[in-house]
Amino acid sequence: MRGAQITGWGMALPDKVVTNADYEARLDTSDDWIVERTGIKERRHGGTTSGLALEAAGRALARAGRHGPEIDLLVLATTTPDQIVPATSSFVHYKLGCRGAAFDLNAACAGFVYGLVTAVALLDSGHERALLIGSDTLSAITDQDDRNTAVLFGDGAGAIVVEATDGEPLLLAHDLGLDGSLTSILCCDKGGYIYMEGREVFRKAVRATVESAERVLKQADVSAEDIALFVPHQANIRIIDAMGQRLGIDPTRYAICLDHTGNTSAASCGIALAEAADAGRLKDGDLILFSGFGAGMTWASAVVRWGGSPLVPPVAPNGAGG
Ligand code: ACO
Repeated sequence: MRGAQITGWGMALPDKVVTNADYEARLDTSDDWIVERTGIKERRHGGTTSGLALEAAGRALARAGRHGPEIDLLVLATTTPDQIVPATSSFVHYKLGCRGAAFDLNAACAGFVYGLVTAVALLDSGHERALLIGSDTLSAITDQDDRNTAVLFGDGAGAIVVEATDGEPLLLAHDLGLDGSLTSILCCDKGGYIYMEGREVFRKAVRATVESAERVLKQADVSAEDIALFVPHQANIRIIDAMGQRLGIDPTRYAICLDHTGNTSAASCGIALAEAADAGRLKDGDLILFSGFGAGMTWASAVVRWGGSPLVPPVAPNGAGG
């Protein structure tokens, strides 16, 4: 497999903070229940999927020292496109001045990891520089009067630049899958709101993601102790803890953002990764385990090697670009 590395990362959240107290004031719920059952303290609402995508992408490009025209592949993972046609990636591609291909990818909350594997495969077959964005505005398809779902979701975007190199492969192993018999436990009709059988999603998610993660660890011939950073989909801290315990990954190695973002769907792994990278938690050669699951029900795992020789010096810290 051709060499590749992640050269830039960025994230974006809307300005409006919605706290648990905001829900407590108008729904039959409490801060205690939400924190204890999910780990979420606040989330952000607002913006558009393309607007948040552009902001996160701008930061990732600045970090990589790249500009839109240097990108020849744009993958935008989202479940909440701005409109049905054309794809949201068309608007982002145009505004950034990218070259080459762009498409949206809908694998729900597993979208970022599905997108990562897709981007790396296309780099392997000849593309040079990929921009992967996970961007979602789930607040727009959540009934804010339904306590079962309203408290869980937030809006945001995460992005990375992935470049082909002559060095080592980026992706050591991956596992993508889904169980289409489970479409009804987590779904949203056109123009409607998210319906979720939470307990069932929880149960299936833990089993599917643990089995998938075990497969990629085995394929990559590494053990859980070799994983420097675990970047799981940010739906519920109890799901993440259950996974970590079963896999044998210490909580100090989790990348967590859900306490201040809620579940941002396809954006969640990108945001968690960007925050961890900004916090200096990654060094060259570190192994990252990505794990996602979502409506479909989809699941996705990947073992990724971080770093390599920098292609270009970073031009701006994350948050200063855009
Ligand atoms: N405040 C207070 N009580 C609540 C709330 C709330 N916000 N929401 C639900 N409850 C109640 C329920 O009505 C239920 O009451 P009942 O026993 O009287 O019927 C009770 O709490 C317990 O419900 P459970 O479903 O058993 O609660 P659980 O501990 O499973 O937590 C939760 C619910 C947080 C939804 C959990 O099941 C979960 O996180 N599931 C997975 C969600 C998920 O991962 N979604 C992924 C989405 S990915 C995508 O593609 C969009």
